[in-house]
Amino acid sequence: MNMLRTKSIEQTIREGDEPEYQLKRTLSALDLTVFGVGVVIGAGIFTLTGRAAQEVAGPAVVISFVIAATACALAALCYAEFASAVPVSGSAYTFSYASLGEIVAWIIGWDLLLEMLLGASVVAQGWSAYLGVFLERLGLAVPEQVAYGSRFDLPAFLLVLVLTALVAFGIKESLRVNLVLVAVKVFIVLFVITAGIGFINTANYTPFVPPAKPSEAMSSMQAPLIEYLFGFAPSHYGLMGIFAGASLVFFAYIGFDAVATTAEEAKNPQRDLPIGIIASLVICTFLYSAVALVITGMVRYDQIDPKAALATAFTDVGKPGYATLIAAGAVAGLTTVVMTLLIGATRVLFAMSRDRLIPPALGRTNARTGTPVLLTVVVGTAVAFTAALTKVGVLEYMVNIGTLSAFVLVSIAVPVLRRKRPDMERPFKVPFSPVLPILSALICTYLMLTLPVETWLRFLVWMALGLVIYLAYGYRRSRLSGNAAEGDLPSMTST
Ligand code: ALA
Repeated sequence: MNMLRTKSIEQTIREGDEPEYQLKRTLSALDLTVFGVGVVIGAGIFTLTGRAAQEVAGPAVVISFVIAATACALAALCYAEFASAVPVSGSAYTFSYASLGEIVAWIIGWDLLLEMLLGASVVAQGWSAYLGVFLERLGLAVPEQVAYGSRFDLPAFLLVLVLTALVAFGIKESLRVNLVLVAVKVFIVLFVITAGIGFINTANYTPFVPPAKPSEAMSSMQAPLIEYLFGFAPSHYGLMGIFAGASLVFFAYIGFDAVATTAEEAKNPQRDLPIGIIASLVICTFLYSAVALVITGMVRYDQIDPKAALATAFTDVGKPGYATLIAAGAVAGLTTVVMTLLIGATRVLFAMSRDRLIPPALGRTNARTGTPVLLTVVVGTAVAFTAALTKVGVLEYMVNIGTLSAFVLVSIAVPVLRRKRPDMERPFKVPFSPVLPILSALICTYLMLTLPVETWLRFLVWMALGLVIYLAYGYRRSRLSGNAAEGDLPSMTST
């Protein structure tokens, strides 16, 4: 078996030119940055800032944000190098196909699906929660049987279906909607910062790093893997608390890599993809750090609301009207995150179908809309049911582990591809390679190890499922196998 067979970069790019699998090139650098900010700012900043500050990091949660941002920035540089060199749909999946081989590509694609499918579901649930808060403030209510946290979360379900229809209709149209919603979201975040500054009580910053306290007994399944491996005792607050905070708020940065999944829709991908990825990350880091400082300055860390900190902080200082506005903004803001993650998941599967790793009929683009309609509907339906039926609070860590594992592999792939293909044109290059890519892989691995044992077990089950599907279908039908179902495939260079 040759699971290390690798598709050439040239072949990868050429396949993107086949008319029946072609996407329309309509996106500029600004569109891509908006797309990035749209997917990154979401449930993370609106909910996890409070939880991380209150439970594990105290006011030092701002340092947690900076640590998570550093891990993402290093990975972002690696993504940017790949995206500029291999500007085709499918993000890290495609890059790794061209550098690390088919099996690694499949693993990364499977990781990205975990990130995007479950990420969209988590954020849809968060959207439903904020909708509930907002309606409550207006004196209305979603019926209890189908509200957030019930057995069937109807608002989350309906949200995903509507967004699926928009995405299937055409990316440019849906990005126009996205633009308005992203503007509302950024406005709300800026509003939290500017309105909150006046309510900061600097006494709340002391102690900035609260003294470490041992965690209450937790089940062995919930303890971080690192505890088993190296005997690090998990703690609240202190230095370890800052790192625990980083692995939690990491979720808030997830999504910038989805920019790379739109490579085939970008007008000038070589220049614009690195700009889109890095600009969206810089903007978000700035906004997150400011929000973290403002919230922990407004409310003492141990009194912060772990569920809806941004809104509640204003109720606490006697501004309930502001809280309603922020809840409304969160509803608008989370919508764009779900939509962008849906687009990302569709594009990864699209690239896989073009490679015949999943049935190619799924990935055909519609001549009128220029989008893979069938695939979008399949993805949307899966996310809608996952969001509606899964218990709240179980999927977040799965999203983090899926994303971090993809980051590790992408970081390793940069020096590997440089060595294998030194001749290749790289309009954007990671500085100080291989030092920075290796550092990126190490930081992401460390954050993975701080995740709970049960998350690791679920992750291993997901990966095993992926491997079974690959061996049963993809390995035998892939373009590189020589058994692809349809004729007329472009010539291949299998190594
Ligand atoms: N970064 C995204 C969020 O925080 C996934 O919702």
